[in-house]
Amino acid sequence: MRAVHSLIFLFTLAVCATISKSTESAWNGHTTKGSTSPSAFTPYYVPPGAKSYDSASPLLKYSGNWKESFSSGYVQKTLRSTKERGAAMTFTFTGTGVEWFGNVDHRHGIAKVYLDGVLVERVDAWSTVRRRQQRIYWVFDLPPGKHTLKIVNSGEKSENSRGTIIDIDALVVMQSQKPQQVIPSQNYQVASTDYTTLFTTQDPSSPPWTLSQQGTTGVHAMQLAIISNSHAIIMDKVEHNPLTVDGHPAWGALYNLKTHSVKPLRVQSNSFCAGGSFLSNGTLINVGGNPVVEDRTAAADFGDIDGLQAVRILEPCDSEKVEGCDIYENPTRIRLASARWYNTVVRISDGSAMIIGGSTRGGWINNATTNNPTLEYYPPKNIHGQNGLPIHLPFLVDTLNSNLFPLAFLLPDGNIFMAANRDAMIYDWKTNTERRLPGIPNGVRVTYPMTGTGLLLPLSPQNGYTPEILICGGSTVDDTKPDYEISSQDPASSQCSRMVLTDEGIANGWQVEQMPHARTMPDAVLLPTGQVLIVNGAGTGISGYGNVLNQVGTSNADNPVFTPVLYDPSAPVGQRFSSAGMPTSNIPRLYHSVATLTPAGNVMIAGSNPNLDRSEVKYGTEYRVEWLNPPYMTLDRPKIISRVPELIGYNQNFVLKIDSQPSTNPFKVVLMDYGYVTHAVHANSRMVYLVTYQSDEGSVTVTGPPNGNVYPPGPAWLVVVVNDVPSEGIKVMIGDGRGPPVDKEAINNLLATVHIEE
Ligand SMILES: *[C@@H]1O[C@H](CO)[C@@H](O)[C@H](O)[C@H]1NC(C)=O
Ligand SMILES: *[C@@H]1O[C@H](CO)[C@@H](O)[C@H](O)[C@H]1NC(C)=O
Repeated sequence: MRAVHSLIFLFTLAVCATISKSTESAWNGHTTKGSTSPSAFTPYYVPPGAKSYDSASPLLKYSGNWKESFSSGYVQKTLRSTKERGAAMTFTFTGTGVEWFGNVDHRHGIAKVYLDGVLVERVDAWSTVRRRQQRIYWVFDLPPGKHTLKIVNSGEKSENSRGTIIDIDALVVMQSQKPQQVIPSQNYQVASTDYTTLFTTQDPSSPPWTLSQQGTTGVHAMQLAIISNSHAIIMDKVEHNPLTVDGHPAWGALYNLKTHSVKPLRVQSNSFCAGGSFLSNGTLINVGGNPVVEDRTAAADFGDIDGLQAVRILEPCDSEKVEGCDIYENPTRIRLASARWYNTVVRISDGSAMIIGGSTRGGWINNATTNNPTLEYYPPKNIHGQNGLPIHLPFLVDTLNSNLFPLAFLLPDGNIFMAANRDAMIYDWKTNTERRLPGIPNGVRVTYPMTGTGLLLPLSPQNGYTPEILICGGSTVDDTKPDYEISSQDPASSQCSRMVLTDEGIANGWQVEQMPHARTMPDAVLLPTGQVLIVNGAGTGISGYGNVLNQVGTSNADNPVFTPVLYDPSAPVGQRFSSAGMPTSNIPRLYHSVATLTPAGNVMIAGSNPNLDRSEVKYGTEYRVEWLNPPYMTLDRPKIISRVPELIGYNQNFVLKIDSQPSTNPFKVVLMDYGYVTHAVHANSRMVYLVTYQSDEGSVTVTGPPNGNVYPPGPAWLVVVVNDVPSEGIKVMIGDGRGPPVDKEAINNLLATVHIEE
């Protein structure tokens, strides 16, 4: 049931819809007003801005033998079905996407789905479980305009099916009508557009940056991390996503980077605004979230459980088929010591995860009542007298209110850099001491909902791994103002602040630079060339939805920034930013957008959803993926032709053979962590140059990183860069591949002391 189109326009309806939050919980089925029995939950959902057509609508043209049946369990109480080979339904609509809903069970067969006369998919409606109002096919990335959907009974069935039934209950059309207007920002050229590629060229001799749209994420991409050479994990909140699992919408998925197909994950708890990190043994944890979804938009029982204290586990999953890869949750045995919504997770030098801050319940801007000014570890540690329980962090009290999703990075001395609101500090986790740093200049706030983004710039042995932090974007809006005094039109900040984290660097303070365009919610992505790509975000407003004045739809932000900018940290001041030759998108990437480098070397851009639940109203829920290709993607790229060790120990030497000639070409070997990306936080994002020396022509001896402070034990991607052209990334494990330290006493104390907070 995956869409296979690659088209690029976003169209929006200029209709405002405000969906208010209900206090009703949906634990055990939803009781609709006036009724006493819970109604059955189904994935059928008509997002604001979309339109539903019933099976009995005269616009659906049937040919062949179709039977009409009636039941209160069908949309509008009617359903059409056919067993006849060749029987067809044709429907012409104007829009950018369409969904087909119907029954599935053990007697259903295979349908051929045609779009505009082209066979796009063979869809199997067979299922062992009988379910109604299921989404059988969906496509969300059609070019705007008139389209014809044709569903034909193929007469075929899967091996286990007992029949060839195909039925139609309803069709839902994404009606988005108005193309997103691209407002060129000053100094930018607007790209010429065609359906698959957009670009402008700066220097005709060098290949251009290109941008293409391909693939849809199935679940909205709120959180994104590359898990293998072939797959990324996408996590969302509980909402009416098109991808379903076990008869209900999914809120987690594995995205195939090569085929663009998506596989739903069975997530139990609500992962709304969770953080994540890999551990030293390659296991991914996804931490914190939200209580059970509260939803008035439809009868809702997604079957989710409270996610505030959740630790969701994805064991290493390197197979291209992602067989058996799923999320494991067991809250009776594995949980956090405190409730966390909007927490940041970083892997530290012993390979465990530090879980920082957050709010004790869902809401919006943090305050003293909701604040969780603590950190804890996974696995839990018996440290500073807390024996698995949270450790108080005064920094998170002093940085109220705009301090959620703090920016945090492991430094090469083992300490943790943190920035929240207008402040920064270095935390020594072994002694539990804070060293406060100079505040971010000019009153710029850099964390949620005044969201900026941050990176640890590449670490190099050439300067003794001197750490340098870069923080860009955010807002100077007063975080003590009530929401009705903040507007989606308040300007974002264009400031980048950069500081060397040595005594001398700290004494020199933050060095300020201006991006060519102000952004809140930007995403900064380290490229293997050592440059930083900044994409996504808004020129005005702040993070979140449904809070401030002049909301667009329900978005708290407006004026999407459509043109990426490249930042070269080693260029002279004043010459570091460039958007020359950059393609311009027309897909807004506002709140809940993400971007990451992929092993292939290009940048995956997804998400945007400033909405309580899936919406087609401006700014709607965005499922389309874009791929931004740096010029090196089309060049002859270096290849590692020798076997790369799967495990690279600290200070361990290994030999690489490269197909280019390292003796004549400048080359570098780097380790990269693509990070766990959500809410403009690129947790664990890291790039470390390795020590190399030429063994003989075509082969290089490389030394593993010096210790777990410089590169914490766990997954990394090894990249060779020759003449500034990088190879593809190869997944390796740094360290010994073992799990982080496990302290049974701390785990037992946590489980005995802290239960799931209601
Ligand atoms: C703190 O935030 C919560 C959640 O947004 C809100 O319900 C509460 O009213 C706030 N409290 C104060 C004192 O502002
Ligand atoms: C890695 O360590 C974590 C924490 O102890 C554990 O839950 C997980 O099962 C381990 N994974 C593997 C593959 O051993």
